[in-house]
Amino acid sequence: MTPDMPPLVRAQNVVRDFALPRRSLLGPGRVFRALHGVSLSIERGESVGLIGESGSGKSTFARLVMGLDRPTAGRIEVAGVDLGAGRAALAAARRHMQMVFQDPYGSLDPRRTVGWSIAEPLAALPGPSSRAERRRLVTETLEAVGLEPEHAARYPHEFSGGQRQRIAIARALITAPDLIVADEPVSALDVSVQAQVLRLMRQLEEARGVTFLFISHDLSVVRNVTRRVAVMYQGRIVETGPTDAVFAAPAHPYTSLLMSAVPLPDPARRRKARHARTEARPELPRGGCPFAPRCPRVQADCREAEPPLAPVEAGRQAACFHPL
Ligand SMILES: Nc1ncnc2c1ncn2[C@@H]1O[C@H](COP(=O)(O)OP(=O)(O)O)[C@@H](O)[C@H]1O
Ligand SMILES: [Mg+2]
Repeated sequence: MTPDMPPLVRAQNVVRDFALPRRSLLGPGRVFRALHGVSLSIERGESVGLIGESGSGKSTFARLVMGLDRPTAGRIEVAGVDLGAGRAALAAARRHMQMVFQDPYGSLDPRRTVGWSIAEPLAALPGPSSRAERRRLVTETLEAVGLEPEHAARYPHEFSGGQRQRIAIARALITAPDLIVADEPVSALDVSVQAQVLRLMRQLEEARGVTFLFISHDLSVVRNVTRRVAVMYQGRIVETGPTDAVFAAPAHPYTSLLMSAVPLPDPARRRKARHARTEARPELPRGGCPFAPRCPRVQADCREAEPPLAPVEAGRQAACFHPL
């Protein structure tokens, strides 16, 4: 974290529009704006939690950071490399990062041994890696995630959900990335197993210097693993700050609502409902604060203009004209 080092991730005014199907053959093309100018920086060693309800744009943002998708507008840099600067730049940036997904069942090839799957990301990297070297790295990585070297010869179906997620993490770790983007990594696991996997991720952050962009709809999960948090609502970051400070006293009424006792539903179960909602949504946003219709503190000015993300105190920002 020397001052002259660029942040690990710097996203500036990132917009992502998705084309929606036309209502009729000659009707106007419709666009759904999933991200409305998102800016977020992640410093090395300072894992960030991205939270928000299902459909708020978290996975869309994750895919853009990973270079798996391209922004409609705006810029994303990883370790100082602009992801939009061409294939070579993208390949260089990708060497710094790996991703872990929600589904520990779908993310591993059932026909391949665990050792093969863990070693696979090495193939995308330059430099010689002999069979012996690969085997050594697989063993070391299995141990780092709390599994046994013998597990390399087995197949995914022989493992529990929690163990599979450890394997997925090992697969991400083997290239020694600076950044791991973990999109709902424990949402599919039982609560007791969640705690173990979260503990592992915390340990890896310390022992291997990995920084996480940790995405979850579940606040309690993010609270335990990240130092900073960003709260997303309808494709915008509406609050950021140190995790402890935000949880102790949220500034944005939406954050406060998220933290109130009502647990958010599982994203997998919400998927159907989300698609229904997206269809019904207007293509272009009206003026005013997007949270105004749900906000218990709404006032007249909230309907006039959209509040920008602005400092509320040292290290904290909120997009609200009347923060708590
Ligand atoms: N390929 C796509 N085409 C159209 N709409 C999409 C596409 N991907 C995501 N969306 C929409 O963008 C919004 C954000 O989705 P997503 O990033 O998956 O949210 P989250 O991960 O926070 O649940 C949702 O309304 C979703 O339906
Ligand atoms: Mg998602």
